[in-house]
Amino acid sequence: MLGWRPARRTKRTMAGAGKGKGRGSGQRRGKAADPGSRRLAEKVKTARGRPISSTRWLQRQINDPYVARARAEGYRSRAAYKLIEIDKRFPILKRGGRVVDLGAAPGGWTQVAVEKVGARGQVVAVDSADMEPVEGAEFLALDFLSPGADIKIADALGGPADVVLSDMAGPSTGVGSVDHLRIMGLCEAALDFARTVLAANGAFVAKVLQGGGEGELVAALKRDFRRVKHVKPPASRADSSEMYVVATGYRGGASDEG
Ligand SMILES: C[S@@+](CC[C@H](N)C(=O)[O-])C[C@H]1O[C@@H](n2cnc3c(N)ncnc32)[C@H](O)[C@@H]1O
Repeated sequence: MLGWRPARRTKRTMAGAGKGKGRGSGQRRGKAADPGSRRLAEKVKTARGRPISSTRWLQRQINDPYVARARAEGYRSRAAYKLIEIDKRFPILKRGGRVVDLGAAPGGWTQVAVEKVGARGQVVAVDSADMEPVEGAEFLALDFLSPGADIKIADALGGPADVVLSDMAGPSTGVGSVDHLRIMGLCEAALDFARTVLAANGAFVAKVLQGGGEGELVAALKRDFRRVKHVKPPASRADSSEMYVVATGYRGGASDEG
């Protein structure tokens, strides 16, 4: 391992739990229907005791072509296609790359990252919820906001990262402005962390919810990265205010030397 040192360092601790190595678990196989293709919507019968919101969620899941495609292709979540679509537009996941995946559970993005970086690459996946290991990735069961989490992730990385991904989101409160502020907090924390571990020219991708507070974040990203874009991948539901910021060409660069 390189005697590497992240750009900002506090106290050293050991890396977290739940490591998984090797490749292939839960990897996708097979061909699935085109998510854009039209098919008849199935209706879910309302069951006594099931809230209308759950019935609507179930109905949406059943009729969602990305859900069907994820199942057929072996991805753990429909979210996998969001990263696939982002990477198609901005090729950031390179063979041999080192990737941090924040808010990884159940593991769709991790599966995609492992496939893209290949056997010589490295993926460190982090979530406060537990997750079945994805072969080829190391999983840290951590609250990213807890003290020392950044050091544990940097230790697991063992060198500067090429890409920091954040799909972190807490459970929805149902109040748009509160969810927006919470996700902006997670996004800013992810960016602070990215500044300490990214290699020169590295990339940062984070989920945001539209809601007016993105101006400052975008200004900060523009100072640190050469290119900054807001994207709504086709797999992101049209009725959700979810967007992703994609920042490439990091102007800084963590040291590789001990
Ligand atoms: C939308 S899901 C991620 C889906 C994932 N990208 C995939 O492809 O399967 C958001 C995740 O963020 C995680 N999360 C939210 N806050 C977190 C925090 N403070 N630390 C670690 N994980 C967090 C949640 O536990 C949840 O699993």
